[in-house]
Amino acid sequence: MRMVVLGLGYLGATHAACMAELGHEVLGIEVVPEKRAHLAAGEVPFYEPGLPELLKRHIDSGQLAVSGSYAEAADFADIFFIAVGTPQKKGEYSADLQYVDAAIEELVPLLARDSLIVGKSTVPVGTAQRLAELANELAKDIEVEIAWNPEFLREGFAVSDTLHPDRIVLGTFPSGRAEKITREIYASVIGQDIPFIVTDPPTAELVKSSANAFLATKISFINSIAEVCEAAGADVTAIADAIGYDARIGRKFLNAGVGFGGGCLPKDIRAFMARAGELGAAEALSFLREVDNVNMRRRTRMVELTRKICGGSLLGAKIAVLGAAFKPESDDVRDSPALNVAGQIQLQGASVSVYDPKAIPNSRRLFPTLDYAPTVAEACSQADVVLVLTEWKEFLEIDPTDLSHVVRRRNIVDGRNCLDAAEWIRAGWEFRR
Ligand code: UDX
Repeated sequence: MRMVVLGLGYLGATHAACMAELGHEVLGIEVVPEKRAHLAAGEVPFYEPGLPELLKRHIDSGQLAVSGSYAEAADFADIFFIAVGTPQKKGEYSADLQYVDAAIEELVPLLARDSLIVGKSTVPVGTAQRLAELANELAKDIEVEIAWNPEFLREGFAVSDTLHPDRIVLGTFPSGRAEKITREIYASVIGQDIPFIVTDPPTAELVKSSANAFLATKISFINSIAEVCEAAGADVTAIADAIGYDARIGRKFLNAGVGFGGGCLPKDIRAFMARAGELGAAEALSFLREVDNVNMRRRTRMVELTRKICGGSLLGAKIAVLGAAFKPESDDVRDSPALNVAGQIQLQGASVSVYDPKAIPNSRRLFPTLDYAPTVAEACSQADVVLVLTEWKEFLEIDPTDLSHVVRRRNIVDGRNCLDAAEWIRAGWEFRR
């Protein structure tokens, strides 16, 4: 089948390459010229394991093409996926829908055939209905159908999550063709016995908001327990293991530490609260404010712990921060707990040296005043405290004895509960979590 993907960021580039992998002919539309040039050359402008190979293969074969032209898009197909960003509005909790709206406003007047537009971006409930009305106003003597097919991919696993998802959810308006077409598009995925859930658009939009709210709540739940453990001298990882054996609870997303970040969970729970407020249901989601508060408190606690280790003041201290990405296997630093902590520590007068295997270029753009080191050893050189804030595999393999020789004082804080404490303590380190 022929289809267009509008927006080639993390979501759109992955979706476009994976649709080509399923055998479809795909045109990806990216309006930022620099990004477009990279993608058209078969290069992925961010780190996502497995995606560069897939993208290059399908660009080279001609199965996937990249353009900046909406006119070309309108000409190419009558199936369109919206995969543009929905960031948090500046100074507000709500989602900024300007890119989603712009996609409809630019595309629909150019359409000359009946078309299906399937939204994949995470949007506040009610968006598909509003866009359907907008498309209807803009369409010239044709039918434009809107449906919503939320995406649940995780960065770092984007390709396998798209090709082997836990489920496919589709929100359609009655009497449309969306279900038939979408079943055909995903036929080989559904064929792997993947549940295909067809519902109405508001329900589909809320499935995505609810999934992210639940995941964020799970993380903040275990981080709240971590706070109690710190006060009581108990071990939060042992608790997560023990409660995780209960199939009703499950062990996943119970890793305590410096909390969640990234381009999705933080902004999605805030947009969810804002939307519930608009609908007069603010109270129903008031617990999410506490989920957010607990999460932000993990960052402050990390700064306070570091200051305490330094004797009550960070002035003149040298702090090594290992990890800058919001999670391993990603170079994404959007709302990264690691960089947030590094920035706060620097503001309190410490000199901070950051190392990350993949995310330094992005970190430099966002936090240009921090120092960046090319290796773990250089970041830790003469450090008073070493903070591990992203659980990259490379950090789990550090030899504590080797690192002893480069630091000024052997203080390590495991901000992701990922290190072998006994090994560090044996090598003479003061180990904290
Ligand atoms: C998330 C959702 O998982 C995905 O389904 C949705 O489509 C987009 O948002 P992503 O942002 O890629 O995906 O990362 P995820 O793996 O969910 O991690 C989010 C954050 O939570 C990271 O900062 C991670 O370090 C943190 N986290 C995760 C924890 O602190 N503890 C955990 O147990 C799990």
